[in-house]
Amino acid sequence: MNSLPWTEAAGIPETYFTAIQALHLVGQLQKGETVLIHAGASGVGQAAIQIAKYGGASKIITTAGTDEKCKLCKDLGADVAVNYRNENFQDVVEKELGGKGVNLIIDLVGQNYWHQNTACAAMEARIVLVAAMSGSMIEGFNLRALLNKRLWVLATTLRTRDADYQGKLRDKFVEVAMEHLSERRMRVTVDKVYDWKEVGQAHKRMEANVNAGKIICTTGQ
Ligand SMILES: NC(=O)c1ccc[n+]([C@@H]2O[C@H](COP(=O)([O-])OP(=O)(O)OC[C@H]3O[C@@H](n4cnc5c(N)ncnc54)[C@H](OP(=O)(O)O)[C@@H]3O)[C@@H](O)[C@H]2O)c1
Repeated sequence: MNSLPWTEAAGIPETYFTAIQALHLVGQLQKGETVLIHAGASGVGQAAIQIAKYGGASKIITTAGTDEKCKLCKDLGADVAVNYRNENFQDVVEKELGGKGVNLIIDLVGQNYWHQNTACAAMEARIVLVAAMSGSMIEGFNLRALLNKRLWVLATTLRTRDADYQGKLRDKFVEVAMEHLSERRMRVTVDKVYDWKEVGQAHKRMEANVNAGKIICTTGQ
């Protein structure tokens, strides 16, 4: 087992544990299923693309806010990356999947994507809500959209889990990711490393949404 630099290792838990939880423990990804991952260039999104790929997803479609971020998503294993500023992801999913809809959606965006998520979901698809970065209120949603397709809406958090659950998640991490990370088949993108005293600048970078991967603060030791 190879070791990783601390700056990379520090980027693993929040991203990989969250992605594994969303795709495997909650989303129950099956080999051959299609997956839509929003905010694909975020730390969680990048891990999710790689976990889905090694988990046997047949097609991974992702969304991100710049062409550079879309390219990064494809480098990590996404089959299709939609720059949401230029293209409507629902149209792309419909075109790419021949109107069948997507089996599993990992959503970090929430409000802005809710109607389109339910519209491009396959019959009996799972929608796993991990965050609500655009807001959490849904106006004018018709529950029939869930009933008609028998959709599963699931939500999950990491930090509030008890030790038993976290142990189960750690075991799944060891099973599906640890060796791939050690052998560098999977990776953590370190966006920028700051000295701990510059934490204010680190926050500003994150708030501006320009980071693509983890922002790491270090004590320099
Ligand atoms: N439920 C859980 O257990 C759990 C665990 C860990 C993290 N989280 C949450 O997951 C989210 C992502 O965390 P992270 O560390 O992966 O973030 P990150 O690496 O800082 O990436 C965030 C990215 O999301 C995109 N984004 C932000 N606001 C958006 C919006 N309104 N619409 C579309 N895209 C948006 C931006 O990329 P673009 O330029 O592509 O828009 C931004 O760079 C956070 O809200 C975090 O709190 C939840």
